[in-house]
Amino acid sequence: MQDPDVTADAELVRRLPSGFRFGTSTASYQIEGATEVDGRGPSVWDTFTAQPGHVIDGSSGARACDHYHRYPEDVALMRRLGAPGYRFSIAWPRVQPSGRGPVNAAGLDFYDRLVDELCAAGIRPMATLFHWDLPQALEDDGGWLNRGTVDHFAEYAAAVAQRLGDRVADWVPVNEPNVVTLMGYAVPLHAPGRSLMFDALVAGHHQLLAHGRAAIALRAAGAVSVGCANNHAPIWPASDDPADVGAAKLFDMVWNAQYLDAMLLGRYPDDLRALLGDAVHDGDLATIRQPLDFYGVNYYNPMRIGAAAEDAELSFEFREVLGHPVTDFGWPVVPEALREWLILLRARLRAAVPPIVVTESGCAYNMGPDTDGVVDDAPRIAYHRAHLRAIAEAVERGVDVRGYYAWSLLDNFEWAEGYTQRFGLVHVDFETQVRTPKRSFDWYAALIAAHRDRG
Ligand code: NOJ
Repeated sequence: MQDPDVTADAELVRRLPSGFRFGTSTASYQIEGATEVDGRGPSVWDTFTAQPGHVIDGSSGARACDHYHRYPEDVALMRRLGAPGYRFSIAWPRVQPSGRGPVNAAGLDFYDRLVDELCAAGIRPMATLFHWDLPQALEDDGGWLNRGTVDHFAEYAAAVAQRLGDRVADWVPVNEPNVVTLMGYAVPLHAPGRSLMFDALVAGHHQLLAHGRAAIALRAAGAVSVGCANNHAPIWPASDDPADVGAAKLFDMVWNAQYLDAMLLGRYPDDLRALLGDAVHDGDLATIRQPLDFYGVNYYNPMRIGAAAEDAELSFEFREVLGHPVTDFGWPVVPEALREWLILLRARLRAAVPPIVVTESGCAYNMGPDTDGVVDDAPRIAYHRAHLRAIAEAVERGVDVRGYYAWSLLDNFEWAEGYTQRFGLVHVDFETQVRTPKRSFDWYAALIAAHRDRG
């Protein structure tokens, strides 16, 4: 009998459209290290990680994967993987140490070298301009609560585009503005560690404006492919009880709709518009709704939301998603929710959606090398296989999905979880910096090669 996994892979190779772009994804603060090198200024994550209690293992991104110095080795790994796409982020505090003013040439030089290395390896660079490492000097003036940050971001975007625009193929201005807003400004789980509850939503509005302004600046500099990377999750009510349904709707508004509706429809849900009050100026939504060449979706898992007790600080609460396996992080593995989201998107917006790229999806499983040096991460293979199958099914239902960027190339600094959660296709020993491709790496490489050979 044929091995079912082999059959599943052969089917994937057949079902994913030709030209479908496989890739991997990373972010500056999570992999680069070298936080005090070549004039980089401090970011909010340097500040946040220095305060005890914020990161589970007390660590920071100060060394991380030392990618800043080891990027040639990492690009060689990408070449071996054979994935045609790579998404990385540019650290704003390397380019402008205090978030404004003159460009720090040494900081931009690093990305110049990286992009050259990628191009020489035949890899298509996708650059994110903000993946959470806001210059601390801007946070000192209010960070994303301050509308002035948007102007600084537009200048930063223009400076980067001027230098790298001839080689970076795809641009993502802002990564997951909802996570920054809700986990960084509403509750203090991420930098900058504010506890503003609903008053945090203005940080989301300003990041959306930053997205729009950066898209305009990128295009003015000649960029041809500009998208986004929004974290989306289907929000499931805990029950049919109207209180749970209402709570789920509210959470969906601040997790999904704020970003989806603003970027693609140029409007906010009425309740959200009311909450934002005079933070929204005339013309803002037109600025946010820029034509996008791709709509990037970062997908991990659905969320189940119920009504909270009357005296709780927030009216909704997270409930366990039942009946699904979980990763080592405890996140439910529900590939069908990705399919559901991709298929419902158009109906939900009642409008056309640009081509979709899954700009991140991945799972934490923490096994390391066995005595033979093999990292047998079979559950990670199963995760990516199942999520790619969900995409193939959505494509067959008429959804235009153009690519999949696995999170992540390397095990790395997982924010408040420090180094305790490993998402990489490549294992990193953080003591020695030795990289060991996992079984999932070989599996992904074989799938990519078979799909390429299929033509
Ligand atoms: C999405 C974020 O963009 C990335 O930085 C993070 O590591 C992954 N989710 C996993 O939590």
